[in-house]
Amino acid sequence: MLTPPDPHVVVLFGASGDLSKRKLLPGLFHLNRAGHLSDCRIVGTSLEPMTNAEFRTLAREACEQFGRGAVDEGDWARFERKLSWVDGSTGSVGLADAVAEAEADIGEECRRLHYLSVPPAAAPAVIKTLSEAGLVERSRVIMEKPFGTDLATAQRLNAMVHEVFTEEQVFRIDHFLGKEAALNILALRFANGLFEPIWSRNFIDHIQIDVPETLTVEGRGSFYDATGAFRDMVVTHLFQVLAFVAMEPPVELAPAAITVEKNKVFRSMKGIRPEDVVRGRYEGYRSEPGVAEGSGTETFIALKCRIDNWRWSGVPFYLRTGKAMAEGARIISIAFREPPKSMFPEGSGVGTKGPDHLTFDLDESSRVSLSYYGKRPGPGMLVDKLSMQFSLNEVETQGDTLEAYERLIRDAMGGDHTLFTTAEGIEELWNTAAPMLEDPPDSLIYERGSWGPKEVHNLIAPNRWRLPFQRRWRD
Ligand code: BG6
Repeated sequence: MLTPPDPHVVVLFGASGDLSKRKLLPGLFHLNRAGHLSDCRIVGTSLEPMTNAEFRTLAREACEQFGRGAVDEGDWARFERKLSWVDGSTGSVGLADAVAEAEADIGEECRRLHYLSVPPAAAPAVIKTLSEAGLVERSRVIMEKPFGTDLATAQRLNAMVHEVFTEEQVFRIDHFLGKEAALNILALRFANGLFEPIWSRNFIDHIQIDVPETLTVEGRGSFYDATGAFRDMVVTHLFQVLAFVAMEPPVELAPAAITVEKNKVFRSMKGIRPEDVVRGRYEGYRSEPGVAEGSGTETFIALKCRIDNWRWSGVPFYLRTGKAMAEGARIISIAFREPPKSMFPEGSGVGTKGPDHLTFDLDESSRVSLSYYGKRPGPGMLVDKLSMQFSLNEVETQGDTLEAYERLIRDAMGGDHTLFTTAEGIEELWNTAAPMLEDPPDSLIYERGSWGPKEVHNLIAPNRWRLPFQRRWRD
């Protein structure tokens, strides 16, 4: 096992909120139970008044409901005593006292990790409180998206953060990059000699990154209405995954080298043209609680991106994501060029089921498949579309998988920026998005449970969206 990071006091802002209950508290509980943390204390805070005992009860319920099954009493007892609460209303003085008390327990030279699980508008106040409380030294700060809403707001936010923290201390989290499957893209590309030679415009026809969701905005109406699918999913998750797929081999598997290559991809992306975008909103979205009357926010977006460099020139990247869609999936499909000429007899089936694909499923099972045409047994020469498949569920070490937030919290504690976004990378992406944001196409209504507005098919023609899982997976 990797050496656990230094002892830490984790300050969880927004500790009674949804993300904290679903991911952060169960994640910290698991990291502690599995021996991935050295000594730590967790100070929860939010504007909600609470006692230590109430916070512990909230955390226990969260671990039971959203963690990995039943909570062992021994594990819980070891975790529970690490938790304490401080009311946000006590300001910087109350916070400084609570952290000092936690530090006295584990040694005053410990590190501090501030997790800002708060709405974007609240982030500046939290940063100011941390500065006033004298909690900047020995600390790192994890920030949640959205990192601004356009270039100007992102620059302002970065400047404000940099008044207090150095870039080295800032960890902008994108949970998609913490998924095992996303990391497997790097392993597959760079740990093997097989794929790199064919990873370019010479062999790849187009790439799809498709993240349809069946969920609606589910009670997040006011957050979502101010954000929309592009800012909620594309600027963060989909573009970040795209960078892993498209980047050049880094000079080493280290944060700075990977960041350089990712940022080069962002710089090579051409501005997103409004005519390459389809925006939509599901029927009834405007009546969701928290959504403004007459809202123009999109709950669906599909776009064509182009990366203007030697490797990818002429290869379209199609991105799609939306709420209330027919199925949920997180698929990357790499479509290879078809053979230049077929010598197979007519009716043999060659080419009838689309091109060969390498597919990554970003689901926990981290499935990867390679589809190809192979001979159907029997007389003559008929072909079927076959596939070679791998799933993490089949390996003995599957139980060692860390949930994305677990992985990323642990990385941030160790000061490892590999899977986090930089100020420069984010600003570059807003720059790329500017032409579309300045003149967004109308958002078209689509039926709930569909694949989005029908215009999405024209965007990708003559290719087709590859619906999740057209190819059956082995049981
Ligand atoms: C979040 C978005 O970042 O990612 C949500 O805010 C979205 O709208 C979620 O549903 C999807 O993440 P995952 O890991 O469940 O696919």
